[in-house]
Amino acid sequence: MLDEVRWGLSRDPKELSPKFFYDTRGSRLFEEITELDEYYLTRTERSLLRRWMPGWIGDLQPHALVELGAGSASKTRILLDAMRAQDAGTLFVPLDVSEEFLHDAAERLRGEYPDLTVRPEVADLTHPLEMSTELPSPSLFALLGSTLGNFDEAAAVRLLSHVRATMGSADALVLGADLRPGPGKSQAQLEAAYDDAAGVTARFNLNILRVLNREVGTDFPLDAFRHDAFYDPEEGRIEMHLVASRAVSVRVPGLGPVSVDEGESIRTEISCKYDRPTLDRILDGARLRVARWEEDDVGRYALVLARPLPLDV
Ligand SMILES: C[S@@+](CC[C@H](N)C(=O)[O-])C[C@H]1O[C@@H](n2cnc3c(N)ncnc32)[C@H](O)[C@@H]1O
Repeated sequence: MLDEVRWGLSRDPKELSPKFFYDTRGSRLFEEITELDEYYLTRTERSLLRRWMPGWIGDLQPHALVELGAGSASKTRILLDAMRAQDAGTLFVPLDVSEEFLHDAAERLRGEYPDLTVRPEVADLTHPLEMSTELPSPSLFALLGSTLGNFDEAAAVRLLSHVRATMGSADALVLGADLRPGPGKSQAQLEAAYDDAAGVTARFNLNILRVLNREVGTDFPLDAFRHDAFYDPEEGRIEMHLVASRAVSVRVPGLGPVSVDEGESIRTEISCKYDRPTLDRILDGARLRVARWEEDDVGRYALVLARPLPLDV
């Protein structure tokens, strides 16, 4: 973690990996974000899952569900209910970097689904996946919440390649993808989803500095930074930053003091927004292809079913 922090803070402009948001407090704040009026992503994805998953699960008859970046696994219940209704598999493998939160979510699901075998995996999706659970065939993988958007195109291809490498030819991946602004979604609506009126996203963003101060021994003064989020139409992505309201010098173990000038910002998250050609290209780079693409009625969000292409030999 310290190596990654040193690397990001030595860059110009400075950046931090969004995976550092997610200690237990960060995961809870993210849950709060998903319930905000402005955050249309979760409720749109939930209604797409309700609409399409029973049929897709009926066709696939998966023996296991593997959820990548599972978080609280709240929407997962829609998939698990569909699997139960169709007498499909009873193995659930939620995977996340946020260890304590993951184990709590797994415990809750064991209580709610007594017939389900829940095998949580603590893993970082930016590295090749090493699952301790052997997966049956076919398995259904899920990457929801537009988590893929936190990775630029090259990193998204790498991440999906790690997933593809653990998939068998009969498996499938269901992907939630937030779409670019268009007739049914203005840029202002998109930006509001990352800068809510109640300031929950601002607290989530600042939480990364608390995590760093605690875990790697930096001494960021939290009161010297404010939240900023904007859409970059050229790149097709939201960027979230922490902007210094005064000049600060931050201790970074192994790197020495790092100066942040007044007005300088540290990028903490990108959230890429997709269109069909972009996602086709990313999936193809990871040896996957779109089998189904379903959008909500105004084209804010897409639920995608991807199937494996043969791996190059
Ligand atoms: C945007 S949230 C989505 C959570 C949930 N899937 C949903 O749809 O609401 C991203 C999730 O991915 C996890 N995560 C972020 N970076 C990760 C990484 N590099 N490896 C594994 N999990 C990661 C976070 O802990 C968090 O639970």
